[in-house]
Amino acid sequence: MKKDLLTLLDLSSKETENILKRAAELKSGKDVSTCPLIGKSIGLMFDKTSTRTRISFQTGIYQLGAQAIYINTKDLQLGRGESIEDTAKVLARYLHGIVIRTYSQNTIEKLAGNASIPVINGLTDLHHPCQALADMLTIKEKKGRLKGVRLAYIGDGNNVVNSLLEAALLTGIDMVIACPKGYEPDKKIYEMVLSEGAKVEIKTDPGEAARDADVLYTDVWISMGQEREIERRKRIFKRYQVNRDILSLAKPDAIVMHCLPAHRGEEITDDVMDSPQSVVIDQAENRLHAQKALLEMLIK
Ligand code: CP
Ligand code: NVA
Repeated sequence: MKKDLLTLLDLSSKETENILKRAAELKSGKDVSTCPLIGKSIGLMFDKTSTRTRISFQTGIYQLGAQAIYINTKDLQLGRGESIEDTAKVLARYLHGIVIRTYSQNTIEKLAGNASIPVINGLTDLHHPCQALADMLTIKEKKGRLKGVRLAYIGDGNNVVNSLLEAALLTGIDMVIACPKGYEPDKKIYEMVLSEGAKVEIKTDPGEAARDADVLYTDVWISMGQEREIERRKRIFKRYQVNRDILSLAKPDAIVMHCLPAHRGEEITDDVMDSPQSVVIDQAENRLHAQKALLEMLIK
C-alpha cells in the first residue's frame, strides 16, 4: 500500500522518530554512497514559488539516485481544463512519487486519491509538513530533545503553525502561540491535537508567550496567496515582531527559528535574525536531510 504525506499526522510518533533518526544519520554522512532510489523519477509540481522546498527536494532526490522532474503546473494541460484526477492517474504511470505545492488541501487530497504513487505535501494554505519535519530535526539537534521543549510561536496562525501543532502532538513539544484575535491557527487542527493530549495553548500577548521559551519561532505575516491583505496585515501584526525585547524574555540559551523566506523588519528584526541565537540557516539545511529520510521511507 502506498503512503502519502498530506499532513504530518499521516506519520505516527514512531515513524517520525525513525525519520528524524535517519535524517541525522544521513546528515552525518552515514550511508552516503547508497542510492536507494536509483532509476526512479519523482515529480515536483509547483503552483507557488519556492527556494528551499524545490531545491532541497531536487538535490535530495538526486543524492538518493533518482531524478527529479520540476513541473510548473502552468505548463501542464491542467491549465487548459484537464482534471486533477486524470492528471494524477497519468502521472502515476510515469513517476514513482509526487511532491506538490499548491493552494488548497483539497487539491492534494484529490491528487493523492487518484494517484497510485506517494504524494508529499510541499506546502498548502493549510499545512507545511516537510517544514515541520526539518524543524523537529533542528530542535533535536540544538536542544538534545523534543519532549518538554517550550516552543513559542509569535505571529500569524498559518500553515507552518498548523503543522507545528501536529508536530507537538507527535513529539511532546510544548507549544505556545501568540497571535492577534482572528488569526489563530486552524480551529479543527488545534482542537484535535489538544483533545489528543498535545500541550498547546494560544495567547494574544507575544511577551507572555516568549517568557522562558527554549525556541522562539516566527513566520511571515503575509503568506503566499494573501498579497491583497498586505497593508491590513502589516497593521494588525505590528506587535507580533520577534525583536531584542522579545528575545530577552526567552531563556538565555533560546534558539530563534524561521522557516524562511523572512521579511526582515516585519516579523523579525535584522539583529535577531543575524544573532548567534538564530539557527535559521541550519534549519533550512535540515530540509534536505529530513526530506531524504522521508523519501527513503515513502518511495518504493
Ligand atoms: N520554507 C520554505 O518552504 O521555503 P520555500 O518557500 O523557499 O520553499
Ligand atoms: N507561511 C508561508 C510559508 C512559506 C514557506 C507561506 O505560506 O507563504
